[in-house]
Amino acid sequence: MVSIISIKSKKLTGEILVPGDKSISHRALILGACALGKTTIENLLESEDVMSTLNALKALGINIKKNQKFWEVQSNGLGSLRNPDKILNLGNSGTGVRLLMGLVSGCNINVSFIGDESLNTRPMKRVIIPLEQSGTEILSNDFHLPITIKGTKIPIPIKYASALSSAQVKSCVLLNGLTSTGNTLYSEPVKSRDHTERMLHYMGAEIHSKDFSNGKNEISLKGLPNLRGKHFVIPNDPSSAAFPAAAALIIPDSEIRIKNVCLNNLRTGFYKSVIEMGGFIKFSNKKSVSGEFVGDIHVKYSKLKGIVVPEKRVPSMIDEFPIFCIVACFAEGETVMTGIEDLRNKESDRIEEMVNNLKKFGYCVKSSSNSISIIGNKNIKPKKEIIIDSKFDHRIAMSFLCLGLLMENGIKVENAETISTSFPSFYDTMTLIGANFRK
Ligand code: S3P
Repeated sequence: MVSIISIKSKKLTGEILVPGDKSISHRALILGACALGKTTIENLLESEDVMSTLNALKALGINIKKNQKFWEVQSNGLGSLRNPDKILNLGNSGTGVRLLMGLVSGCNINVSFIGDESLNTRPMKRVIIPLEQSGTEILSNDFHLPITIKGTKIPIPIKYASALSSAQVKSCVLLNGLTSTGNTLYSEPVKSRDHTERMLHYMGAEIHSKDFSNGKNEISLKGLPNLRGKHFVIPNDPSSAAFPAAAALIIPDSEIRIKNVCLNNLRTGFYKSVIEMGGFIKFSNKKSVSGEFVGDIHVKYSKLKGIVVPEKRVPSMIDEFPIFCIVACFAEGETVMTGIEDLRNKESDRIEEMVNNLKKFGYCVKSSSNSISIIGNKNIKPKKEIIIDSKFDHRIAMSFLCLGLLMENGIKVENAETISTSFPSFYDTMTLIGANFRK
């Protein structure tokens, strides 16, 4: 077990890079496997989650290697996927397993999936139900891993109106749609991150997306597209950037810049919320790279006030709620988050972990099945070191390490090795700008 201690720090300053975006990294590898020819990937996130997807694709017969500068995925299209000779272990990665289930379901192969302790408890019904509509036979442990997929030769195109706004479910259905002969139709109540749609379009698929004024989004994808291998430059991850950004917002006199971050507006809900709270966040050097908006984020320490987060914003900050809770502890008044029930299905039950752990410090926190409210209090100063178990959730670990930077007696996060699922350089990057971390 790795533990990291975080103790009160002076102001954070400097310019940093966070690693490549996790969602786009998974997709670049997976879509590279669907295309004809060579896909080259620059700035791939080399974290445990992404490597789980990479190794699974290798076991499915896809040739993936690293050159000095790029990763290369060589494929002859979806027909080249083979029966693996082992069970595919996706470790901690929900994105990896759910997207790969969609990929293999139309490939006429049999594939079994398993994960770590956390992934094995996560709900898979959300992807099993639509995939079964395509004629795929799926054996599961009561809608959980381990799962075996008996792929179909030509899947029936799925028409699915999801009750959940989830980019993982959407991407799973779209990947299945690549192998079917007709049009796959998918809708969700509020648009979730659209990297799969953007990347499929960039690689030559006929894909159309329609936004409605109430937030609903509908997608139509034509089956059997001739996807061509492309060059992807992965922007840096706004979800990872949220940790140093949050720490700079709450540690007096801090000022940092985070370079080349993905600023797709379906990923920037955290930044919109902290701006509404009075936070100094400025985006600059905006440009388009491989079909995504990219730019720099300038953050300064700010006096913050509590807000009510609009429910429609939830999908665009879904991964940032743990660190947003930490920011809310330093705002004047109450911050209210509702419509966040799916946080209970992440790498841990993030509502329970945030609420129970913040109560250990004495913060005034309330929760229900689908909400959290926090009353900020800058005067909380525990008399001794507080110990937090990450529960193998990288974002719980990083959130409390950021909170520790304001605590005289520090915070010790146990099972901190989980941070390498998404942000392997977290310790070094934070130390570089002045965070007082110890191993
Ligand atoms: C992801 C989608 C989100 C997010 C996860 C990554 C993706 O999950 O929480 O970390 O890459 O598609 P949901 O789609 O389940 O909300």
